[in-house]
Amino acid sequence: MSRRPNTSRRFAENASLPFMGALHPKSRPSPLLSIGLVVMGALLIVGYLYRGSGGRSGDIAALNRLDGGVSCALELQRLVPILKKAYGDSTRKVLHVGPETCSVVSQLLKEEDTEAWGIEPYELDDVDGNCRSLVRKGLVRVADIKFPLPYRPKSFSLVIVSDALDYLSPKYLNKTLPELARVSSDGLVILSGYPGHQRAKVAELSKFGRPAKFRSSTWWIRFFIQTSLEENETAVKKFEQAAAKKSYKPNCQVFHLKSLH
Ligand SMILES: *[C@@H]1O[C@H](CO)[C@@H](O)[C@H](O)[C@H]1NC(C)=O
Ligand SMILES: *[C@@H]1O[C@H](CO)[C@@H](O)[C@H](O)[C@H]1NC(C)=O
Repeated sequence: MSRRPNTSRRFAENASLPFMGALHPKSRPSPLLSIGLVVMGALLIVGYLYRGSGGRSGDIAALNRLDGGVSCALELQRLVPILKKAYGDSTRKVLHVGPETCSVVSQLLKEEDTEAWGIEPYELDDVDGNCRSLVRKGLVRVADIKFPLPYRPKSFSLVIVSDALDYLSPKYLNKTLPELARVSSDGLVILSGYPGHQRAKVAELSKFGRPAKFRSSTWWIRFFIQTSLEENETAVKKFEQAAAKKSYKPNCQVFHLKSLH
């Protein structure tokens, strides 16, 4: 999407040159004009191709919005029962971190024996009365997850983060990921988008500061090792069993990490 303005600007700059040359009285017009025409033709074709690809990625974004595969917070609605199976008692005190945390916290609070808190990493705008009430009760707060979280170690049994990490560069992930593992006692669940699931919402760009970057599972696993975080094999196995029982295939990547102490 962002390519389009650049292309047209480049087009305008380049295209103006042959005409300036052609109109200049001292230059010989014919070779410049023909080169100019060839360049212009090429630029028109390039411009056309770029426009074509822009249209296609726009279609993908629209499809993602339709099938709901776009938001991992939305995916959590289907995931919570499976996480409850995989983590059992460890879902007593849950912290959710990520956009749309009000709806996730509301859903978690409906579960039996579950207390839930939420961190919204970006501003809360256009929120409904339910969300305002969660904020008033102190269950949901806005906090920049690039900085240390205001919680003691092991404050929550389980920490679930969705979408938010896709917007952080490795420099910040290096600090944020261990922080999330620090405030949990029984594990950290990470939901991130699959590479190729394009999310080109202009509104999101202005809200999150940078576009989401969807990394592959090999990238993530290498990153976990670099930051000394370990996958929780027990949780992975239990999760996969519970998911298979419900024939559930996540639209987001799901990672299970051990807490850090
Ligand atoms: C993140 O931390 C690891 C290990 O502490 C280091 O090797 C790596 O270079 C860091 N990455 C960035 C982007 O700071
Ligand atoms: C690993 O996951 C299980 C739930 O499947 C949990 O009970 C356990 O505490 C986790 N271990 C660590 C070290 O986070």
